[in-house]
Amino acid sequence: MEDKKIIVSGMRPTGKLHLGHYLGVIKNWVELQNQFDSYFFIADWHALTTKYNQTENMIQNVRDVALDWLCCGVDPNKATIYLQSLVPQTAQLHIYLSMITPQNWVERDPTLKDLAKIMKDKQENMSNLSYGLFGYPVLMTADILTFNADFVPVGIDQVAHVELSRDIARRFNNIYKTDYFTEPQPKLTQIPLLKGLDGNKMGKSFNNDIKISDTAEITEKKIKTGVTDRNRIRRDDKGNPSNCEVIFDYWKIFGSEEEIKTVCDGCQNATMGCAECKKRLADKMNSTLAPIREKRIALENNLEVDEIIHEGSKRAQIKAQEVLDGAIEVIKMYK
Ligand code: TRP
Repeated sequence: MEDKKIIVSGMRPTGKLHLGHYLGVIKNWVELQNQFDSYFFIADWHALTTKYNQTENMIQNVRDVALDWLCCGVDPNKATIYLQSLVPQTAQLHIYLSMITPQNWVERDPTLKDLAKIMKDKQENMSNLSYGLFGYPVLMTADILTFNADFVPVGIDQVAHVELSRDIARRFNNIYKTDYFTEPQPKLTQIPLLKGLDGNKMGKSFNNDIKISDTAEITEKKIKTGVTDRNRIRRDDKGNPSNCEVIFDYWKIFGSEEEIKTVCDGCQNATMGCAECKKRLADKMNSTLAPIREKRIALENNLEVDEIIHEGSKRAQIKAQEVLDGAIEVIKMYK
């Protein structure tokens, strides 16, 4: 355990996760947990930065995220799965980091600008952008430095944040004349971008996603709405899989070489209609996802999830306290 490099990554509790999360993030974590001392956390404080007034589903959302991770193979015996708000050491470290972070570093953060824009578009006026939201990148830095992480597995959209974390770690080290904090590096995930059913990026708020926990019936229904080759209008029109916007992409992810060839031929020769192609795809996806979904239902029924979250958070606290104590010493606070 000790000489393994440390990774930290988090996800906001947005509710039930979709296949984009599974293929793009969780599958990667499941690999990484074998090689790294891994900390995966549910970022409930981060959720509050924008949804401070929508907390009614918070508890269920936290459980849903944990259930989705677990059923996809994130293993609490290999990785430390924890809830951000159950590791208060992060908040303490955040205070110290916030003191040394220049305000204009935070204001420069591009992701934050995007967030601000989204909030604005949603008619929330700018004065509703909270102090906490501006502190987002510093809180994220605290998440990472709490475990003195070496790497942060994230998608490209989060790289700017991790860069800022490096800057803050370096500044801390300069100010207190130490090499206490490791400068964390982003570990870019090669995300096979899974499109939503309408051809846009898959996302809960776009209503174009398939959840990990959807039933086989719902999956089939949703697949029926997936975009195909828009020029193939009638059943006996010959289609072109490379113009098939969504369904063929899914085949490439879920199908075997042979299956892909079969649907390709069927499409190009008009021997298989889109309806049949979709039905086959839904069957294939459902059989691939069946063990994951069964595991999720079993986990839901045995009510272990809260225990797993608490256990993991306790474990995380131990390491976090160690790192925090060291930082407090380096800063030369009264002890
Ligand atoms: N900002 C990340 C997101 O929105 C979530 C996150 C919070 C995170 N803290 C983190 C990711 C620390 C990696 C490390 O997806």
